[in-house]
Amino acid sequence: MSDIIQKLDAAAKRAPVVPVLVVESAASAAPLARALEEAGITIAEVTLRTADGLKVIEAMRKAAPGLIVGAGTVLSGRDVEAALNAGAEFLVSPGMSPGLRAALGGREHLMIPGVATASEAMTRMEEGFLRLKLFPASIAGGVPALKALAGPLPHLKFMPTGGITEGEVAAYLGQPNVFAVGGSWIASQADIAAGNWARIIETARRLLTPA
Ligand code: 3PG
Repeated sequence: MSDIIQKLDAAAKRAPVVPVLVVESAASAAPLARALEEAGITIAEVTLRTADGLKVIEAMRKAAPGLIVGAGTVLSGRDVEAALNAGAEFLVSPGMSPGLRAALGGREHLMIPGVATASEAMTRMEEGFLRLKLFPASIAGGVPALKALAGPLPHLKFMPTGGITEGEVAAYLGQPNVFAVGGSWIASQADIAAGNWARIIETARRLLTPA
């Protein structure tokens, strides 16, 4: 088991909710990282969908060294290198492609690739990926799909993401093959842009406090 997987597993045990962040300006990065830490979040995924994405990763890591910061929406070999150079500790992709697979060459332990079917999960497992993202979770079958996959593929661990609502988080986290749940609504793009740290902290805390 690689260092980063162990680190992610331990952090997810403390706080199994991963905000998927779309951050327009690097100026938001430091206060956002501090707000997430204050709320008890341990893992954050910064999408590379904005021009400032890489700068955001760098600034969040500096501002909150205790937070594990990864890069999301990693689609190409160029994204892999840029994200790692910016300080991303792990990588998340919506799926897998031959080009991305080749670019990773030997660094599968750093990536949580998206899968939506048993065949994709088996292929990623054969390739050496240890943690998978069920994506888009709500369309790929949600909790019933995770329950069904646990039978034949009991050692695979998933981070379902995509279309999950706050009310569904507990049911996902109740599955033994789920190590974390991801969502962009935990810290929304609008709240980040507006600097609404209080609402982000409140939402994250509510999610991390079992009812
Ligand atoms: C994403 O890549 O945007 C994530 O899957 C987040 O999905 P969500 O916006 O439905 O939470």
